[in-house]
Amino acid sequence: MADQEIVNIISAQEEVYPPPPDVVARARIKDREALSQFAADHPEQFWAERAEELEWYRKWDKVLDDSNKPFFKWFVGGRFNIVHNALDRHMNTWRKNKVAYIWQGEDYSERAISYAELNREVCKFANVLKSLGVQKGDRVTIYMGRVIELPVAMLACAKIGAVHSVVYGGFSVQALAGRILDSQSKVLITCDGAYVNGKLVELKQIADDAIKEAPIVEKVVVYKRTGHPVGWVEGRDHWWHELMKDASPVCETEVTDAEDPLFILYTSGSTGKPKALLHTHGGYAVYTYTTMRYVFDVQDEDRWWCAADPGWITGHSYIVYAPLMNGVTSIMYEGGPAYPAPDRWWQIAEQYRVTILYCAPTAIRGLMRFGPEWPQKHDLSSLRLLGSVGEPINPEAWRWYHTYIGGGRCPIMDTWWQTETGGFMITPLPVTPLKPGSATKPFFGIRAEVVDDEGRPVPPNEEGYLTILTPWPGMARTIYGDPDRYVQTYWARYPGRYFTGDSARVDQDGYFWIIGRVDDVLKVSGYRLGTAEVESALVSHPAVAEAAAIGLPHEVRGNAIYTYVILRAGYEGSPALAEELRQHVAKVMGPIARPEKVEFVSKLPKTRSGKIMRRVLKARALGLPEGDLTTLEE
Ligand code: WTA
Repeated sequence: MADQEIVNIISAQEEVYPPPPDVVARARIKDREALSQFAADHPEQFWAERAEELEWYRKWDKVLDDSNKPFFKWFVGGRFNIVHNALDRHMNTWRKNKVAYIWQGEDYSERAISYAELNREVCKFANVLKSLGVQKGDRVTIYMGRVIELPVAMLACAKIGAVHSVVYGGFSVQALAGRILDSQSKVLITCDGAYVNGKLVELKQIADDAIKEAPIVEKVVVYKRTGHPVGWVEGRDHWWHELMKDASPVCETEVTDAEDPLFILYTSGSTGKPKALLHTHGGYAVYTYTTMRYVFDVQDEDRWWCAADPGWITGHSYIVYAPLMNGVTSIMYEGGPAYPAPDRWWQIAEQYRVTILYCAPTAIRGLMRFGPEWPQKHDLSSLRLLGSVGEPINPEAWRWYHTYIGGGRCPIMDTWWQTETGGFMITPLPVTPLKPGSATKPFFGIRAEVVDDEGRPVPPNEEGYLTILTPWPGMARTIYGDPDRYVQTYWARYPGRYFTGDSARVDQDGYFWIIGRVDDVLKVSGYRLGTAEVESALVSHPAVAEAAAIGLPHEVRGNAIYTYVILRAGYEGSPALAEELRQHVAKVMGPIARPEKVEFVSKLPKTRSGKIMRRVLKARALGLPEGDLTTLEE
């Protein structure tokens, strides 16, 4: 971190933005402290009351079952399907005629779909899935661009009790193939292509290549977005529109168990291949529904825009499930934020009179570079709340967002959470006094603590590891297919506590300041990537014998990937080969993983047991002290 940035953060700690009176006046929760105290004293009652706001086929027998820690269960014995709450129940109210999604393509094409129309599409696609042989509990991989059919596919899976595994459309062949194999998906849903930043992304081509490596896929459904020619395998491939033509619009929602799996979502960890976090119908629904309602205070007249990708947890929770359960109108935009000009987002916010915008700091920093004249071309007066997610927001970006996008009147909800947590964990509410760069305080029913190596709480303003002491309904239940890894990764380091993998500080006012990952997880443009995945992509190139990847600070992207490569005998390092390796990583993993730099080396710093010491590489690259080297082998 640069010195100037540290000064900025220290001064931000003293800089407090009280909530504007009109925001307080309309806020659902006016007294955060009182409700926090109630939820801390009576967590099960608090969550049971929230669950009562949703519809259950059968009420639970027990709110929380903690008899087999850390495999907590919520709303045990309850019968519940999230789709019943996201769609079916709205069919009995005026809300069926409300717009669920307003969509804009990068080519400016527009669509709007009501709750009733969305329900009809979901019912039809659920019948399509059944006709392809998909049954309750089966995994279905979804690899699509940002189109309304992506939520349709997710909801259709959930409706029949199948488990969706969405793979972000920016990932490429190897990432997709690995996830198909690990989840054992026999059905893949994709698009012919997508438009991003003026370019055509060949989703179907990538899917075809991935299936060559993961030949367990028996059926592929292709949604036609671009209409350009694509390869076709007769018998295996089917057009979405052809299957939908004859599908019945009537489909009963499967009466699932509260603890039945809803989806798996792969995310990067510190070692090995990405892990599939598993979320369930009941607890995840209650948690995402409640967090959105309280933190963004969503009301019927709101126009909610979560600008994340549905392929990441932010999109699962706050583009698909929570907004629909809350009956909100959402905006969905297909393409790049600065395409064709740096005011694309601001044009969309103005055009649809967006009231709440939720996005990532990397996007703010990227758009900030172009100057305030771009948002100033647009009337952004409809906005009343802003949100931030994915990485720490530096105070400078916070102030720019607050001033130029929020017009100085919109509080910023800086929400800290993870794929593993399902929903917001440390977050402001609209009534919380804000400090730029702090996610403020734990959500209701969450107890968080910053501790040292031994698990002892650290004093105020000292850095330590962020841990959670209480279970919550939205927590991932396990790692699909690898429960031991679930225990090892999250629950072994500090017995009785969930270990987040982040470091943080708590200031004298009890405000949490998230510093960043303490493991080998990188945040590149808000996307979570593991150094191990980049390394494995590099060694899949014939020239590479060994590779190490680290993240270095990057002004816009948060982290930039730097890699160190030992070549096989017979290969010579050259700028051309470095470029080839960068492209190779982009090809196997996806463009977001393309390293900033490839450096050829003859040795890598390793421990005696052969583990690469990435922290030493990082210190060297930054010109910092290398720290404790007693375990270094070379
Ligand atoms: C980081 C994204 C600071 C953090 C929802 C966490 C944040 C990781 C914030 C999870 C925030 C997320 N302030 N850091 N408001 N939100 N992070 O699984 O390091 O993609 O552990 O979930 O993002 O990333 P994931």
